[in-house]
Parts: sequence; structure tokens; C-alpha cells
Amino acid sequence: MTFLQDRRLNFSVRSDSYRSVSTSFCPALPVEAGSAISSSMIIAIDGPAAAGKGTLARSIAEHYGLAYLDTGALYRAVAWTLLREGRDPHDEAAAIRAARELDPAILSRSELRDERVGEAASIVAAMPAVRKALIEFQRRFAAHPPGGRGAVLDGRDIGTVVCPDADIKFFVTASDEERARRRAAELRERGVTANEAAVLADLKRRDARDRGRATAPLRPASDAILLDTTGMTIDAVFESARKAIDARLAEGSKGG
Ligand code: DC
Repeated sequence: MTFLQDRRLNFSVRSDSYRSVSTSFCPALPVEAGSAISSSMIIAIDGPAAAGKGTLARSIAEHYGLAYLDTGALYRAVAWTLLREGRDPHDEAAAIRAARELDPAILSRSELRDERVGEAASIVAAMPAVRKALIEFQRRFAAHPPGGRGAVLDGRDIGTVVCPDADIKFFVTASDEERARRRAAELRERGVTANEAAVLADLKRRDARDRGRATAPLRPASDAILLDTTGMTIDAVFESARKAIDARLAEGSKGG
């Protein structure tokens, strides 16, 4: 068994844990016919909550045989650790400790998807020392993705801070109302009662915090491709991203 270890950050990740946490980490999958990535490629996908980033990131990872990391799960895991210990998410010392000692095995826990965990995640994500503790892990994943073919990372600051040299960057948005509708439908599917007006208010509050924080705020990288998914089907969003990636790959192969 091999270990990826960073003593400074106190991360000790069993490499085979990638398999057991498939909702947040995905090992590279077999490449679909037609995709043509020959060397390691990094794809950054940022955007506000419920804009469709995760769905798009997973489809791209599957299509091109890349590993996938949902970086929001890292912030959610820190928040969940605090809530489980009965702590206030504003408790900075506890949040920093939880980030430094984060066990990647908890990234697959379904409780991380709860709305109260998402809200607390946005609070801990505004703490610079928490972000610092988590950034190494994200960069290491991008530099050494399971499978070695490259990686798709989604979050808020992937194109601007975590992987500023990503080969291709997307900034995915949708109207506030559509995002609230999607999030409410997702919650109902999980058996949670959801009121769209309340979900909309939560999303707006969280986005304002993610956009307004001083460290690594949510914003598009200057070289990101903007993808407004309002009114688009999941397939149409994927097709639009696929065309952009294929065009970038074709440019790369012409250039040498
Ligand atoms: O994408 P999500 O809803 O799972 O993210 C939860 C919170 O984590 C979100 O409010 C902002 C924060 N986050 C962040 O600040 N940077 C990232 N790269 C990913 C998420």
C-alpha cells in the first residue's frame, strides 16, 4: 500500500482511498472513443453554488479519462467536522485544526451535502489559514492526478489561485432563480423538504460571502470561458464545453 504524505500539513492520504471516495475524488476512467488527450491536462471549473459545475466536471472527467476533485467537499468536510464537534463554524482555531488534520476518507460522506454544512463551509472558506491548509492538497492532486492523464477540479478559485496555469478554464453560471430551482429539486430528490424562496435566499447569502471575501474570492479568471447554463440541458452544457476543449486540444497539437 502506498501513502501520499505531507507532514507539514499533516495529510496522510492512502492512495487507494481515491477509490472509496468516488463522489469527491474520481480516479481517471477509461477514455471514451474520440477524446484525444495525450499528456497531462488540467481543467479548472469555477462558478457559484448550483450552477452545474459538478455535473459538468464529472462528465468532462469521464469523457476525457481524467481524475476529478470536487474542492468544495474539502471546505464542507472542515465545516462538517466543526458541526459534529458542536462548535461554531466561526471558531477559527478549530477550523484551522480541522483543515490541517482533514481525513480525505470523510469526503464521500453524504452529510457533507446538507445545506447547513454548505452554509458553514462558506464561513470557514473565508478564513485565509483554512484556505492555505487546503490548497497544497488541491495542487498536489492536480500535479499528480490518479491515473496520470490529468485532472478536472471544480470550485471557486481553481482558475485564479489553485491552478492559474490550467490548460482550460470555465466559469459556469446560471440565473439565481434557475440555480435555486435546481438546488431545490436536488434536495427534494434526497427526500429533503425544500422551499425555493428559502433556497434562493440561502444561495444569494452564500454567493455574497464567497464573492466578497478578501482571500481567493469567487470570480472568473481573466482567461476563463464563460458558460451561462440558464435554460440549457445538461447535455447541451457538456457539448459546449467539449467543443471548447477539443478546439484547445487541436490548437495544442498544431502548435507542436
Ligand atoms: O461548491 P460547494 O457548494 O460544495 O462549496 C461549499 C463552499 O466552499 C462554498 O460556499 C465556497 C467554498 N469553496 C471555496 O471557497 N473554494 C473552493 N475552491 C470550493 C468551495
